[in-house]
Amino acid sequence: MAELKLTDVAKAYGPVKVLSDINLEIERGELIVFVGPSGCGKSTLLRMIAGLEKISGGELQIDGQVVNNVPPAQRGIAMVFQSYALYPHMTVRENMSFALKISGKSKDEISQAVNRAAKILQLEPYLDRLPKALSGGQRQRVAIGRSIVRDPKVYLFDEPLSNLDAALRVATRIEIAQLKEQMPDSTMIYVTHDQVEAMTLASRIVVLAGGGIAQVGTPLELYERPENTFVAQFIGSPQMNLLAGKVVGTGAQTRIALPEGQGTILSNVPTRDSDMGAEVEVGIRPEDMIQTGGPDYAYSGVVEIKEALGEVTLLYFKKQQPEHDPVIAKLPGIHTGVRGRTLKMTADPAKVHLFRNGQSLLYRT
Ligand SMILES: Nc1ncnc2c1ncn2[C@@H]1O[C@H](COP(=O)(O)OP(=O)(O)O)[C@@H](O)[C@H]1O
Ligand SMILES: [Mg+2]
Repeated sequence: MAELKLTDVAKAYGPVKVLSDINLEIERGELIVFVGPSGCGKSTLLRMIAGLEKISGGELQIDGQVVNNVPPAQRGIAMVFQSYALYPHMTVRENMSFALKISGKSKDEISQAVNRAAKILQLEPYLDRLPKALSGGQRQRVAIGRSIVRDPKVYLFDEPLSNLDAALRVATRIEIAQLKEQMPDSTMIYVTHDQVEAMTLASRIVVLAGGGIAQVGTPLELYERPENTFVAQFIGSPQMNLLAGKVVGTGAQTRIALPEGQGTILSNVPTRDSDMGAEVEVGIRPEDMIQTGGPDYAYSGVVEIKEALGEVTLLYFKKQQPEHDPVIAKLPGIHTGVRGRTLKMTADPAKVHLFRNGQSLLYRT
């Protein structure tokens, strides 16, 4: 049985619909990441699961029980917020004990729970310190510790790293991944707008956009087989190049002609006879672009901007139309003297995505 089941869940503030048709099952032990652009409803969805926000439509089940009208404290859920407020006059141990003391647990139970949490979070050396004597990352761990001691069924995290600087973000991200490994049976839902956090932490990612779910899948499923152009461009950086094209050969492999004096390219996405001549969008990730000298190229353009990052070089090609995004290639290593040159690019047919009206042809029924 799913730990968490959302059926047709919807949220509206008065006439303003924020979310609709949210259908999702989360199994015990999963680390699910909700990702999406700012304002797409990630926090709202998390707060509905926590019970801090009323559900306008549909049904939410936790552990087989409908909880739409169950108050937050009785849902077996712990939420770790963006800004973590620790009690400044209490030690780490007291901060972590507080909720259990209030709920009348015995001294032994409390000390057992706190010691377990401190061990998982590597906070044992700091139990007698005050929060002011801790680093930002350690304070964040104490905040997480306060939820662990309550042994909830589901942990909810709303952008817990967004207050940390870049280096600490990476370190804490790795700590959260390790924390999850030490608690294999706990279910976690983690909200972020950062696709790198989503890719590195999630067992499955839920991409939210336009008031609904754009796709649910493992990180690599979303990267390798995005269902639509939104997910295709949201996952991966720089974003996937999308080029308008026309199908000129169908079958197990598809040949697409790109316009404006460009070449043609093969894709392993199969097409039917009836697709001949169809307008499609060809998706190629910058890292899948290959420079070619041969006559069989897909795209030819003038390199306008170069960004040398050492391990890779980003090439931005001159735009054909002012309203288009520039085509970007991410080539391994260092490339000198390419600015202003015309380069011909192609890609492995296995790495060429095809979309029609924004939907991947891979998932067509
Ligand atoms: N109390 C509220 N009243 C009206 N609109 C709200 C309220 N809370 C959030 N919203 C709107 O709902 C949308 C989703 O917000 P939110 O869930 O916070 O987005 P995210 O966490 O993805 O950035 C936003 O457009 C926001 O303006
Ligand atoms: Mg939010």
